[in-house]
Amino acid sequence: MAVLSRKLWWQWRIILVALTVQLSVLAGGEYFKPFNVTYDHRALIIDGQRRMLISAGIHYPRATPEMWPDIIAKSKEGGADVIETYTFWNGHEPVRGQYNFEDRYDIVKFAKLVGANGLYLLLRIGPYVCAEWNFGGLPVWLRDIPDIEFRTDNAPFKVEMQGFVEKIVELMRAESLFSWQGGPIILLQIENEYGNIESSFGSKGNAYMKWAAEMAVGLNAGVPWIMCRQVDAPEYILDTCNAYYCDGFRPNSPNKPVIWTEDWDGWYTSWGGRIPHRPVEDIAFAVARFFQRGGSLMNYYMFFGGTNFERTSGGPNQITSYDYDAPVDEYGLLSQPKWGHLKDLHAAIKLCEPALVAADSSEYMKLGPMQEAHVYRGHISDRGQNYTLYQSCSAFLANIDEHKSASVRFLGRVYTLPPWSVSILPDCQNVAFNTAKVGAQISVKSVSLDIALPREGSLLPQMKTEDIVAPNLESWTSWKEPIGPWGDNKFTFPGILEHLNVTKDLSDYLWYKTRVYISEDDVLFWEQNQVKPLLNISSMRDVVRIFVNGKLSGSAKGHWVKVVQPINLSQGYNDVVLLSETVGLQNYGAKLEKDGAGFRGPIKLVGFKNGDLDLTKSSWTYQVGLQGEYQKIYAVDESENARWTTFPPGSTPFTFSWYKTHFDAPDGTDPVSLNLRSMGKGQVWVNGHHIGRYWTLEAPKDGCQNICDYRGAYKSDKCTKNCGEPTQVWYHIPRSWLQKSGNLLVIFEETEKTPFDIFVQTRFSKIICSKVSEDYYPPLEIWSSTSYVKNGVFSDSDIVPVMKLKCEDGYSISSIEFASYGTPHGSCQAFSLGNCHAPSTRSLISQACVGKNSCAIRVSNSIFGDTCRGTLKTLVVQARCSSTSGSSSAM
Ligand SMILES: *[C@@H]1O[C@H](CO)[C@@H](O)[C@H](O)[C@H]1NC(C)=O
Ligand SMILES: *[C@@H]1O[C@H](CO)[C@@H](O)[C@H](O)[C@H]1NC(C)=O
Ligand SMILES: *[C@@H]1O[C@H](CO)[C@@H](O)[C@H](O)[C@H]1NC(C)=O
Ligand SMILES: *[C@@H]1O[C@H](CO)[C@@H](O)[C@H](O)[C@H]1NC(C)=O
Ligand SMILES: *[C@@H]1O[C@H](CO)[C@@H](O)[C@H](O)[C@H]1NC(C)=O
Repeated sequence: MAVLSRKLWWQWRIILVALTVQLSVLAGGEYFKPFNVTYDHRALIIDGQRRMLISAGIHYPRATPEMWPDIIAKSKEGGADVIETYTFWNGHEPVRGQYNFEDRYDIVKFAKLVGANGLYLLLRIGPYVCAEWNFGGLPVWLRDIPDIEFRTDNAPFKVEMQGFVEKIVELMRAESLFSWQGGPIILLQIENEYGNIESSFGSKGNAYMKWAAEMAVGLNAGVPWIMCRQVDAPEYILDTCNAYYCDGFRPNSPNKPVIWTEDWDGWYTSWGGRIPHRPVEDIAFAVARFFQRGGSLMNYYMFFGGTNFERTSGGPNQITSYDYDAPVDEYGLLSQPKWGHLKDLHAAIKLCEPALVAADSSEYMKLGPMQEAHVYRGHISDRGQNYTLYQSCSAFLANIDEHKSASVRFLGRVYTLPPWSVSILPDCQNVAFNTAKVGAQISVKSVSLDIALPREGSLLPQMKTEDIVAPNLESWTSWKEPIGPWGDNKFTFPGILEHLNVTKDLSDYLWYKTRVYISEDDVLFWEQNQVKPLLNISSMRDVVRIFVNGKLSGSAKGHWVKVVQPINLSQGYNDVVLLSETVGLQNYGAKLEKDGAGFRGPIKLVGFKNGDLDLTKSSWTYQVGLQGEYQKIYAVDESENARWTTFPPGSTPFTFSWYKTHFDAPDGTDPVSLNLRSMGKGQVWVNGHHIGRYWTLEAPKDGCQNICDYRGAYKSDKCTKNCGEPTQVWYHIPRSWLQKSGNLLVIFEETEKTPFDIFVQTRFSKIICSKVSEDYYPPLEIWSSTSYVKNGVFSDSDIVPVMKLKCEDGYSISSIEFASYGTPHGSCQAFSLGNCHAPSTRSLISQACVGKNSCAIRVSNSIFGDTCRGTLKTLVVQARCSSTSGSSSAM
């Protein structure tokens, strides 16, 4: 199946040059020559030219500034033209009127990095952003403003919202970050998916939406504004699509281009949930369909998801990792083959860009019952030195049949389309890419078993001594958190107060304590009837722990669930202590100011001889937070505030303990994580940096798919992983938060788990695998590289698929563990030889690749020999990457 024919291509290549972004040397502070952004029905018009744009979603506070350059570079290398981010109001204005634009919240630094990389920025201000971020990004102090109602036609809310939006726009203007100032910002967003909840507010909803639009535009930022999921957006605001698929989306006006602000390439995860996975063949299909059917700007939500450090994760119950199954993983490593396959897709779309922008609309051709083509034709002016007109043509052929492949005839040729796939033909004849054929390598992520934390000399049996990079045998110490109110700042109130009204979200924890008197009659009644009194809580979120007389009676978790807990009460006075815990405040929905946390409705003791005891009106003593939090015993300077005692193995653990130790950083630059599989629930700090909440709640035992079939419409419960395993085991410790040795690790643990099996581990891609068949497409570079063209014709011998292997930076290929050109079977880490096998494969691949960071191998009989003539052959390679010590090897 020779996909590339002996065709004239050269005209085509010249055209490409015209559309590359010009990055010349510019005046200080400017990243581009100042340019304006407008739009028409087809696309954004950037500096006078329509553009087809690929955007990569990265949320700056979900990584450290030290990680930003690498993540942005990986986005650019993956084919992004634009970086997209929300802004995070509650991070920037933690206290009303007191702003934070430092460190992970240094949005100016982030925006400048984007510009310095020659990328554009789509800034989604919100300032309600959802984002699986605590309280959807809204500051919790907003709740305390008298008469406030969020996100509706409410004066107090509008004042605060406008204040923040203005603050951001003025900051960007002052830093010259808008396009017309030579900065990267090309688009702004106001509000976020407001259309989803607008009807909850009646006519006030529409009035608020219009106000928000007018307010935003009134700030004269000089670039267009968008509203996502807002079908009634005003004419002067672009309405955009957020979904798994947006190829059928049409904006609410024929004058607006088709923009996809959130292409959900994965999904978020909740504690106790399965891990979502969206197969790359389906994402590529969705993206290709979008551009096929007239789309012009697509943003991956997320391209890099990152980490919800501190207590920033949203609720209910969202986990600390925000990996999102994104092309760049939580640690900043490439997630393969996702990243590589999408990179190829983007390159193929870029090849079509001249025709896509030249045509005002596509020609539609029905190719079969579930097969269709869209063809873009137009005259292209080469804006190089010489003004020339070219006729260009690009086409997308889709097979939306979920089950069967199809052969279709298009412009006189026959094409085979795998099920649920799109072939991209940049010249309307030759296939450059098919969404279902993955040629990118797979990377198998490993974690080191390297560094044991103090374990009094003993090692886990599977650990080899040479793997212990930094043994540090200083012991653990512990300190017991008091159960119940502990401080001078506790207070007493007759009745149950709402959780957030008391904590202001300064801590997850709120203690409630009351005292009940039990008579001899009651005890006799229970003994005679062999029953126990019950504590009934009408409704509660997210976690409650119930202590009676200092002992834990039970715990419950859920989202506005009823709790019924049998308890032991003795004759006389009994202390009843409830600990209410939040695990991320609600981030989605209308009227969040009323959502609150903790308890709702009556709390009763039931099962008494003379009826129930209503505790709702009892006198309760309140205490916000933990004593250890209050005294900052996790901070480097303050950790001595606690009276730590040594905690040798075998010690009796308590519920609610703090543990402390020191550890040395693993050598090298690989990302570092903390393995908390052996723990229960709590929070963790390293050198005073809050790593986040942890919880080893397990995903359900079933409901995961062993085989993930990419075909058919994706939903977040399709292709899930991790059944029966803790939802999150590893917790990212950014390298920049570590020093070489003596790093302070402090853990607050709520259950009776002990810290002896905590490990510090590094993460890297040790094994890479790739599989490329003879009938795969030649590399996309062929379309723009003169070396393949001889006299305007592709020479046959050059037009062969190429397998590319690449280790992470700092690694090189140390060995070829499997290699076969022929008909090998199996999948990565389980390959085996087939009937047909070229015996020289392994030595040839070793010669080409070992010792190198990356290598490319032509998949062709001319390299490996034609062992079994007439059989379609596949090259399969499994290689091992090892750390390149010292200088990196030459390629
Ligand atoms: C952008 O548009 C404004 C207003 O129309 C105009 O004054 C300015 O010169 C334009 N800038 C560029 C770089 O085209
Ligand atoms: C443009 O035209 C000039 C003069 O006709 C010629 O010398 C030059 O090679 C042309 N450049 C290109 C890129 O075709
Ligand atoms: C929280 O406090 C506010 C006043 O600050 C009050 O209006 C509201 O009713 C309280 N919420 C609950 C659930 O008690
Ligand atoms: C307490 O919970 C139990 C178990 O659900 C129920 O039978 C009982 O009616 C509840 N009592 C009250 C007063 O809510
Ligand atoms: C109640 O006390 C009994 C006997 O001491 C004990 O076995 C049981 O675990 C206790 N139950 C609760 C809920 O505390």
